[in-house]
Amino acid sequence: MLITRRKLLAASAAGAAGLAILPAFGEVPPLKKKDTYKVGFAQTESNNPWRLAQTASMQDEAKKRGCQLVYTDAAGSAAKQVADVNSMIAQGVDFIFLAPREEKPLIPAVMAAKKAGIPVLLIDRSVDPSLAKAGEDYLAFVGSNFIEEGQRVADWTIKKTGGKGKIIELEGTIGSSPANDRKKGFDDTIKAKAPDLALLASQSGDFARDKGRQVAETLLQAHPDTTVVYAHNDEMAIGAIAAIEAAGKKPGGDILVVSIDGEKDAVQAIIDGKMGATCECSPRFGPKAFEIMYKYGSGEKIPPVIINPDRFFDASNAKDMLATAF
Ligand code: AHR
Repeated sequence: MLITRRKLLAASAAGAAGLAILPAFGEVPPLKKKDTYKVGFAQTESNNPWRLAQTASMQDEAKKRGCQLVYTDAAGSAAKQVADVNSMIAQGVDFIFLAPREEKPLIPAVMAAKKAGIPVLLIDRSVDPSLAKAGEDYLAFVGSNFIEEGQRVADWTIKKTGGKGKIIELEGTIGSSPANDRKKGFDDTIKAKAPDLALLASQSGDFARDKGRQVAETLLQAHPDTTVVYAHNDEMAIGAIAAIEAAGKKPGGDILVVSIDGEKDAVQAIIDGKMGATCECSPRFGPKAFEIMYKYGSGEKIPPVIINPDRFFDASNAKDMLATAF
């Protein structure tokens, strides 16, 4: 990494002023080896089973490891999540686990932690890679490959429909990495492999069940010829099922519903014939996230990107998998 003269001057000025020693430019702040840590976990919101399962997994692991956990819930506000991270910094946490709600607005939080000498691990969602880099500005990203999730659902849909139909798409939170990547993965695959599967409309339902229902209702009214609903998460898919039924149509019959997450209600909807498929996105981050932190504290090198493996559920395995879904 190139160290500019201006940066060098700024660093020596900070040192001369007796300020905290900053890590070398481009380097993630170090973590001292300890048996237990005081850690922060900045959650985005708690309005769906996925988030609740993720929080429970983080809390369980913190307890198991004897770590003190400073937990915050941004209640769906990126601005609050930035303030939450700043509050963790002020409370002197050793390490921060951050699930950034949106890609750009959380950059100041990542940079503030780096400046304060606190390593950050991004869990499940990422930030804009042109503005902050894994292995430089934050330790690493651990989570699913969201592009691949969209591709897998698209491939399954093409097979199921024979490559023909009319799709409406319910997008996740605008500006979030899963919404951006799941759209890219799905739309590009459909475009490249199934020109007779037309994307009629695409709108955000903010990853929420009721918003998904409302958006699906509006889009189904505007496009009564819809044959496929692709939702960026199961909560919106379940909302869409309600909208399809309210429109007097049969989910799984008149309209195929596909999505991502693998939550229990969705796997049950597959068993009930109301949903076609869902690609898993595991929310069980606790063991992996804490393992990475401890390895880093022991001086191990951490790869910048660590991808979680995801399963795929459809009628062929839903019954067997139901008990393992969150
Ligand atoms: O970032 C992962 C996504 O966020 C999940 O798919 C969704 O349900 C959650 O809100």
